[in-house]
Amino acid sequence: MPHADDRTWLIDTPNTTYVLALDDDDRLHGLHWGRRLNREQAADLPGLHAPRARPVFDGLDARLDLNPAAAFRYGQTGLQVRFADGTTELELRFTGAHRDGDELALGFEDRHYPLDVRTVYRTFPDTDVIERRVVLRNRGDDPVEIVRADSATWVLPRLDDYRLSQLHGSWGAEFQLTRTRLPYGETLIGSRRGITGHQSNPWLALDDGTAGEYSGRVWSVALAWSGTWRMTAERSTDDRVSVSIGFGHDPVAFALAPGETLETPASAGLCTDGGFSAGAAAWHDYVRGHVLAHPGEVRPVLYNSWEATGFDVSAGSQMKLAERAAALGCELFVMDDGWFGARVDDRAGLGDWTPNPDRFPDGLAPLIDHVHGLGMGFGIWVEPEMVNPDSDLYRAHPDWVYHRPHRRRSETRQQLVLNFARDDVREWAHEWLDRLLRDHGVDFVKWDMNRPFTEAGWPGAEHGDRLWIEHTRGYYAVLDRLRADHPRVRIETCASGGGRADLGVLARTDQVWTSDNTDAIDRIAIQEGFAQLYPAQVMGAWVTDSPNPFTRRAAPLDLRFHIAMTGALAVGGDLRRWTERDLSRAEALVAEYKRVRETVQLGRRYPLRAGTVQGVQFNRGADTAVVAWRLERRFGYPDPLLPLHGLDHGARYRDEATGRVRHGAVLAEHGLDLGLSEADPASTVIRLRRID
Ligand code: GLA
Repeated sequence: MPHADDRTWLIDTPNTTYVLALDDDDRLHGLHWGRRLNREQAADLPGLHAPRARPVFDGLDARLDLNPAAAFRYGQTGLQVRFADGTTELELRFTGAHRDGDELALGFEDRHYPLDVRTVYRTFPDTDVIERRVVLRNRGDDPVEIVRADSATWVLPRLDDYRLSQLHGSWGAEFQLTRTRLPYGETLIGSRRGITGHQSNPWLALDDGTAGEYSGRVWSVALAWSGTWRMTAERSTDDRVSVSIGFGHDPVAFALAPGETLETPASAGLCTDGGFSAGAAAWHDYVRGHVLAHPGEVRPVLYNSWEATGFDVSAGSQMKLAERAAALGCELFVMDDGWFGARVDDRAGLGDWTPNPDRFPDGLAPLIDHVHGLGMGFGIWVEPEMVNPDSDLYRAHPDWVYHRPHRRRSETRQQLVLNFARDDVREWAHEWLDRLLRDHGVDFVKWDMNRPFTEAGWPGAEHGDRLWIEHTRGYYAVLDRLRADHPRVRIETCASGGGRADLGVLARTDQVWTSDNTDAIDRIAIQEGFAQLYPAQVMGAWVTDSPNPFTRRAAPLDLRFHIAMTGALAVGGDLRRWTERDLSRAEALVAEYKRVRETVQLGRRYPLRAGTVQGVQFNRGADTAVVAWRLERRFGYPDPLLPLHGLDHGARYRDEATGRVRHGAVLAEHGLDLGLSEADPASTVIRLRRID
């Protein structure tokens, strides 16, 4: 990471350079984020000294990489504080740069108030992702109120136009990828719910409006945080854009105590050529290389009992399902909600984490032994941050939930949120979870979180609003401890489906329950959005019953399997009601998935489309897997061939099922004949192997 002179820095990644420079007033500007530049070229960049068409107060903000509230900052700012005397403007003076391996830290201090600000940049040898964070330190004797402390403000180069890609959604319809022209002014995306949220995922991409799936330059940013967050994309009147991204939300503010340091979570940013699919693939490599704890491990084919038994759980019913799941080839059996306390429906028992004695008179051991005896791992559902008011836990500790004096305790799904900012609540959660894992042969935990915060107060606490950050830290701390003590156990993140999927949680969990919506056709869009950032191996995808219990839409078994095969395939249907024919076809499809699993879960992903035919291709080494489908045929028209990507044009590829040998050049230029059946919808999976 060389630097051009004392006031200009080059942040180099394998293919890109991000250039920072201080102006005469120690304001830090982002001058370049694109192809590699050397020092000499960086010194030639326009920016700091370029003549401005407009006065400084009209167009400066969207060029600042460290963007504190200050005089003439009329746009959004990434750093806002309030000192004890009410002052809100920062006047930062540069104090020095510090380089430590792949990290560069630029230090600043306020010219008058005892506040230090450090902005930190981290690079890696194998990815163009840059990670950034900000560190604040209160050196004074008075608290400093933190209004906004973003991890990064990313400065884009000037483009002719700006298009925003975002992931929005709702319960059952997470990760909807939408592209819109970026309006002038400030576009705010975020969550005020206490968790990452279904409504938006902390990722966005920007391009000039001309990028396609396989062409064009794309800038994308993400945040490694599972609590509330915000991203502001600001397009100034002079057509410059920056994106400021961080934890917290308006209007929450909290005090930084004298002597205290606040370190923000990391924001990750990436500039890629090769269109949206290349950006997504670069994110997948980064998640595997630098986020996940077990990136090389393929995820097991799991069976989850939720859609089959709901709350009607018993040792007998679970054993029966486990037997059927094992016969299909499932490798892990996950018992969902309803196994503990008085939890026979969603009205009572949440918080009382001992097996229900009527349902499990001899405890969990007989079921777990049975599952292990069938050759499967055993997984279990928990929701440690929640409590039903009708529970022994709540009766004993009504003060453990978020609440406000003189306000009702609003419930959804008859539950309240436990205050994970409290040490005693964290201890309690760790104690019973640790015991559950220690006393039983539990191999997998599905950690759920089924409602957003309301009345998020902590009466008596000195800095009540801190809970918005401390809750997430508490959740992380419990997860980190459990993982350290139980390194064998794998964890799935879930919040009513995909409400808590982000780079922060993926550093502590192994996969995501993508959506409660298991309808294969709805899943196409949900999974495509998810795949913009997260790799297939963390994308939990169950095959369930037809018609789908949520949408009532019928879909063929093959289509349900094939769509789920583009992620971490799992089964979640009521196997007790599946026909022998379906069970035997399902067994064959599970076996087929296992043949393509490494390619899908660990390979490079390419979205495919040709007219009415769509699909996803994965390449890994010599192996290619193509999963493709057609939902509606145009009568009288044959299905188009599906052109493939990332193949060696000079090589030949063998279709592993038919033995037919195809030329890479022809598959890429003309496409693959999928041989889909005539009836809609139709789907297939094709395995190809490079033979020379
Ligand atoms: C949430 C999850 C589901 C299931 C139920 C259990 O909705 O997303 O998968 O675990 O809770 O109550």
